[in-house]
Amino acid sequence: MNKLKPRKVSGAKETETHFGFQQIPFTEKQDKVDKVFHSVAERYDLMNDLMSLGMHRLWKRWVMSLTGIRPGQTVLDLAGGTGDLTLLMSKQLRGSGKIILSDINESMLGIGRERVIDGGALSLVEYVQADAQYLPFKNNQFDCVTMAFGLRNVPDIQKALESILPTLKPGGRLLVLEFSEPHRSIAPVYDFYSFQFLPRMGEWVAKDRASYQYLAESIRMHPNQERLKQMFMQAGFDHCEYHNLSAGIVAAHRGFKY
Ligand SMILES: C[S@@+](CC[C@H](N)C(=O)[O-])C[C@H]1O[C@@H](n2cnc3c(N)ncnc32)[C@H](O)[C@@H]1O
Repeated sequence: MNKLKPRKVSGAKETETHFGFQQIPFTEKQDKVDKVFHSVAERYDLMNDLMSLGMHRLWKRWVMSLTGIRPGQTVLDLAGGTGDLTLLMSKQLRGSGKIILSDINESMLGIGRERVIDGGALSLVEYVQADAQYLPFKNNQFDCVTMAFGLRNVPDIQKALESILPTLKPGGRLLVLEFSEPHRSIAPVYDFYSFQFLPRMGEWVAKDRASYQYLAESIRMHPNQERLKQMFMQAGFDHCEYHNLSAGIVAAHRGFKY
């Protein structure tokens, strides 16, 4: 059995971050993350359904209830990958408005684009390949920015939060859906599932054990609910809050720009 490392937030040195349980220079993380998502892109959606037994769909639907999106608005699905949230938001916009589906990884974005076409949302969606830490968008542009299961993969989380804030209109909101710290009553089962089952499933289905080992480790290293809320506040978001889903396996964070 893997010896689990404790959940921790920051790297030992300011120039370092973590890639799963490895301590690495900030400058190396994005390349490693990009390799993971190039490798899993084709099987990403299938693996999501298998790994979460379809729960990710419920989590994402639930997040929609926090977006407050109305027809005519402009939204950004950041680290949007294969476009699940984009497709859900296109329904909320009911044919009027704009969604930018953005991701750093062209393999994930390519699949997202195909799914947007299949989902009939083509007329609402634009695609932008961008790094969440250095967003290329104008200030005061978006009514809502969403980021589902993306923040954990970004080398500098604080920098990403700080780069999102100016792109929001006053009154606009950021929604981050991310794995978090589960209630301690389920921690042993969850650890077994994460570190024993997930990498094996990655090997069987996606023929890529290492990427799913990274997934399990990256979840463990991600800031917990309270810490991420602090990071939202530090970045300048107001009325910051979070909601635990599935006993805290996942948390939906929300912050506003005023
Ligand atoms: C686990 S996937 C989530 C995809 C989608 N949002 C979903 O919920 O299914 C994480 C995504 O984050 C993207 N990503 C990683 N680092 C990023 C960065 N620095 N900026 C933007 N996107 C990034 C990856 O390319 C990948 O598509």
